[in-house]
Formats: sequence, structure tokens, C-alpha cells
Amino acid sequence: MSEQAPARAVDAARDPESCEPVILARGMTKHFGPVVAVDHVDLSVPKASVYGFLGPNGSGKSTAIRMLCGLLTPTDGDIRVLGLRIPEQTAKLRQRIGYMTQKFSLFDDLGVRENLEFMAAVQGLSKAETRTRVDDLVAQYHFGDRQEQLAGSLSGGQKQRLALACAIVHRPELLFLDEPTSAVDPESRRDFWEKLFELADTGTTILVSTHYMDEAERCHRLAILDEGRLVADGTPDELTARLAGRTVEVQAGQPRQAQRALVDVAGVLSVAQIGNKLRVLADEGVDAAPRVRQALADAGLHAQLVDSPPSLEDVFVDVTRKGRQSGAAGSALARTRDDSPPSAPEARQ
Ligand SMILES: Nc1ncnc2c1ncn2[C@@H]1O[C@H](COP(=O)(O)OP(=O)(O)OP(=O)(O)O)[C@@H](O)[C@H]1O
Ligand SMILES: [Mg+2]
Repeated sequence: MSEQAPARAVDAARDPESCEPVILARGMTKHFGPVVAVDHVDLSVPKASVYGFLGPNGSGKSTAIRMLCGLLTPTDGDIRVLGLRIPEQTAKLRQRIGYMTQKFSLFDDLGVRENLEFMAAVQGLSKAETRTRVDDLVAQYHFGDRQEQLAGSLSGGQKQRLALACAIVHRPELLFLDEPTSAVDPESRRDFWEKLFELADTGTTILVSTHYMDEAERCHRLAILDEGRLVADGTPDELTARLAGRTVEVQAGQPRQAQRALVDVAGVLSVAQIGNKLRVLADEGVDAAPRVRQALADAGLHAQLVDSPPSLEDVFVDVTRKGRQSGAAGSALARTRDDSPPSAPEARQ
């Protein structure tokens, strides 16, 4: 795959209708004994897109990724990746994909350059190709001044950058990234995402799992998994549009009291306190604002309602069991803004 593909061709390819998807799965299923880790999932990932995988812990994201890479044999389903039948044609797939696991698999006792050279050797690059490719990656990924440093002594963000560089050393057409940015600071995460978009703009398709809502918002398309099942998919705008009218923010002098007044109201799905405000999500078919206004009046509480468009976090709460149970940013979720650390779940109480 050329890294110089024209941007316009790439944009056209991102349209799921415009050409054969890079990943096409129908009924993808994986059982581990009695555990149904992935349950009849249908997926369609367009070329040159950044496609997000979202879901609570244990919802099947890593298992699905491993099946799509050909590392795990599916229990059932039809899977085509880059036009190849998986798992039957996995050997042919290997040279065309990159995979960055949930724990970066670097060799701690090798230097930065040695890690890249090793991966190039594994991928079958010639010596000459390796030299130019590693030189390019060292420059692009800002390792010029630390080529000899042992990978084990790099910071978390630097390790993540090196792991990405290792995963693309052979210029894969398709890149699987399993929670690549967990435990990395917001600025490093932003830089990492810049690199992902650079890759997508040159035609690489990227499937990335994340617990960060700001990262999910950046994806061209998303799939949300829950207990192994696909519970929502689409562009971020399509997903949030489905919740129109169901979200409202409440500014109350006594937010805890207001939360207690709202939490058991019929039609209220979740009430999350965010600072001094409450974020309310109503059930399907329920208009949030009048319902909330009435409940607060009944409780004799003064509060202001502020229109607040639905976010992906609301979508997550709406479609996942854990999101519904916690009534807020689900237990497996991180906050949406780059400048705030991952939050603890805010209990519906
Ligand atoms: N090799 C295995 N043997 C038995 N069960 C497994 C195996 N791998 C995964 N599972 C189970 O399958 C389910 C899905 O796990 P998976 O790792 O795919 O979830 P995940 O969405 O990636 O979670 P996380 O967000 O925590 O990484 C879990 O219940 C897990 O315990
Ligand atoms: Mg996982």
C-alpha cells in the first residue's frame, strides 16, 4: 500500500456504500466453554476509516479483534478481512495487517532502533528496506535522539509511540489497536491520534478499541459492544442523533437533593452529577425536560434546566447494561474531555 494515496480517493473510500469494506463480518461468534465472549456480531469497516470499538470491560472487544486478526478461531460466523476468508486465509493476512495489543509488546532489553529492526526482520523486510524504513520511522516518531535507549526505560507515552511505529513497520493496510492509549497522558494521546489520522489519510484502515469518549468522538464510525453483542453502530453524529430530546442538564443549588428527587422518576434512565450540575438522560420515547421540570417542582426544588445535546457518553449509558446500572459514565468509561482524568463511575443513587 502506497503511503502517498491521494486524499480525495481516500475520502471516497471511507463511505461505507462506495466500495467493499475492509472488514466484513457476519454472525461472528466466540465461545470460551460456557462464556459467550462474542455473540453473532455483524461488522462492516470501510477502507481508510478510523473505526472505534467501544464497550465495558469484558464486552468482547479484544476477543473480536483477535478473531479478525486470525489469532483466534471463531466458533461461528463468516469473516472477510481485506478480501480474505478468516481463519482459512490467515497466513496471507499476516503480512498485510498490524496489531498493537492491549499491553505494548516491546522488547524491554532492546533499544528503540533494535525494536524497529527486529519487527522489520519478522515482517520480512530486506536489509536495505529496513534501513530506510527504520530511519523514516525514527524521524516521524521523534526518536532521533534516543535510538539506542532501551525500550524498557522509555516513558509510557514513548513506549506507546514506539509500539505504533513497530506495528506499522511493514506498511500494513489494516491496523488493529487494542486500547493503545490507556495510562497515557492527554497530550500524548492527542499526538497519537494525529498519527492515526495521518495513517488513515494515506489509506490505512484502523480499528481501535478505547474507553475514552473523546477518542470515540474522533472516530469516523463506531461499534459499541455489550456482553459480546453489537448494541449500536454508526458515525458519532448518527449515534448521538438517536438521543435527540432525551438529555438535559440541571443546575440546582442542592444537586444531591435534586439527584435524589430525579433518580427514581419513571422515564429517567440516569442522573449523573458533574461538578455542580446534573446530567439527566431519559428513556426512549420520553421528552426529558418536561419530565425533569415536573419532578423537581413536585419535590419543591428550585433548579434551572439547560439544553444539552446528547454525547457519546449518553449513548454508551443508553445501550450498555453496565452504563445503565451505573447511571452515568459507565464503569468502564473515561471522561470525555482531554483535560480531565478518567473518572470513577458516578453511581445512580
Ligand atoms: N482465553 C479465554 N478463555 C476464557 N475466557 C476468555 C478468554 N479470553 C476472553 N475471555 C472472556 O471473554 C469475555 C470477553 O473478554 P475480552 O477480553 O474480549 O473483553 P474486552 O471487551 O476486551 O474487555 P477489556 O475492556 O477489559 O479489555 C470475558 O468474559 C473474558 O473473561
Ligand atoms: Mg480488551
